[in-house]
Amino acid sequence: MNEHHDINKRWWNEVTPVHTTSEFYDVDGFIKGRNTLGSVERDAVGPVDDKKFLHMQCHFGMDTLSWARLGATVTGVDFSSEAVAKARELAEATGLDDRARFVESDITAVGKLDDAPYDVIFTSFGTIVWLKSLEGWAETIASNLAGDGFFYFLDSHPTAMLFDEESAEPKIIYDYFHSDDPNFEEAGSADYADWEYRIQSEARSFNWGLADIFAALESKGLTICEVREYPFGAWRHFPDMTKADDGYWYRDTNEKALPLLLGFKATW
Ligand SMILES: C[S@@+](CC[C@H](N)C(=O)[O-])C[C@H]1O[C@@H](n2cnc3c(N)ncnc32)[C@H](O)[C@@H]1O
Repeated sequence: MNEHHDINKRWWNEVTPVHTTSEFYDVDGFIKGRNTLGSVERDAVGPVDDKKFLHMQCHFGMDTLSWARLGATVTGVDFSSEAVAKARELAEATGLDDRARFVESDITAVGKLDDAPYDVIFTSFGTIVWLKSLEGWAETIASNLAGDGFFYFLDSHPTAMLFDEESAEPKIIYDYFHSDDPNFEEAGSADYADWEYRIQSEARSFNWGLADIFAALESKGLTICEVREYPFGAWRHFPDMTKADDGYWYRDTNEKALPLLLGFKATW
């Protein structure tokens, strides 16, 4: 257990109840049947009928339960007690509790889960940035992935993580390369799902370059494949971006294009 882990857990336990009542997450719409998965991950993962899924850092379970709605049997893992409690409540509210379960644990130390191995291990949007080391993360994937299964990763591209999200002109304010010295999120910052809410807790985050992510998985014997980079994002990385009907954010300007999303698979 490290200091950053406890600090981030407090942060996530504070923001989760803000998220569950936010318009951003639209829990009511979800209970009524909305699927929260985007076309990128749905196309990449393919049909999930009767597949066994592990969702790493599942937050309060909307993506996890969306995979269940498509036919998968799912286990979501998150270290926030608030998130796991809400995920279990949502599983019941949506009648998916017979095919979805949630485990409260640090994803870097959860070990082999009792219903492993999984056909698909999935993680997306705002995940490894919270981890100080990818060693335990990759170990969790390796210990739980079936021999013929795959790991699927989708998140902001490491290049997109360099920029100041509030600057009109693209302005680099973060290092590309990983450092054990974290980025500090001070108390009082706005929550991404509710800009009115000021978070009382602090958070720590870490940058990870492409080679760091791939090397962590390769060190466990996995092979990286189907690497994809996308010129659109899952949220507003720059002020000059607009959300399109497909749910992704596109730049309005004729600036040179940047990779904003990274997706890939890893297999044995
Ligand atoms: C931005 S959310 C992921 C969002 C998710 N893709 C969704 O569908 O809403 C990040 C999640 O990572 C979790 N988290 C951060 N560090 C973790 C760790 N070491 N182990 C497990 N969960 C962690 C947080 O509690 C939070 O729920």
